Amino acid sequence: MKKRIAIFISGRGSNMDAILRQAREGILREVCNVVLVFSNKPDAKGLETAKKAGVKTACIPSKGKKREDFDREVIEFLETYDVDYIVLAGYMRLLSPYFIQAYKQRIINIHPADTRAFQGVGGYEWAWEQGLKKTMVTVHYVDEGMDTGDIIEQRELDITDCSNLKDLEKKGLALEHVMFSDVLKKVFEK
Ligand code: GRF
Repeated sequence: MKKRIAIFISGRGSNMDAILRQAREGILREVCNVVLVFSNKPDAKGLETAKKAGVKTACIPSKGKKREDFDREVIEFLETYDVDYIVLAGYMRLLSPYFIQAYKQRIINIHPADTRAFQGVGGYEWAWEQGLKKTMVTVHYVDEGMDTGDIIEQRELDITDCSNLKDLEKKGLALEHVMFSDVLKKVFEK
């Protein structure tokens, strides 16, 4: 059975776009259907991209709402979609324990660093400022903490050839776009 997935975004949505392409005509075609792209930000650029791709989109603005109140609203909204997995692709809001419990081990995130070494926003900046020769991209299950959930897979990113942060981000995103779908495929196939 194909998994029903919702992709959560807050901004650009380049990872979402990569997943939509793989779900439409690539390696995710046989394993999942993207039933919804959801954003907590009305101006998220990725919403337009998803609409153009013909995917159902929805936005519930989170601004000014208490974490759990907002999450309850989102969970209620999601009910009709009967979602198997939630994929966080640049979703910039920490989920409440209430949300995590509702979708336990069914929420997957991509993080632009080794989650054991760096948590939170700005993984590529961190690697650059640390002067690292290589960093990691991590795909992991989401738990109650900030980037602390079980690691599903990590891939190394050699950054010795990057002469500035922009280069590094570009190289990192290129890896993310391939890796995220690869890992999702393995999870959804199980
Ligand atoms: C990516 O670097 C991802 O790893 C992080 O947020 C960024 C989102 O980029 N969680 P995009 O919206 O997918 O382009």
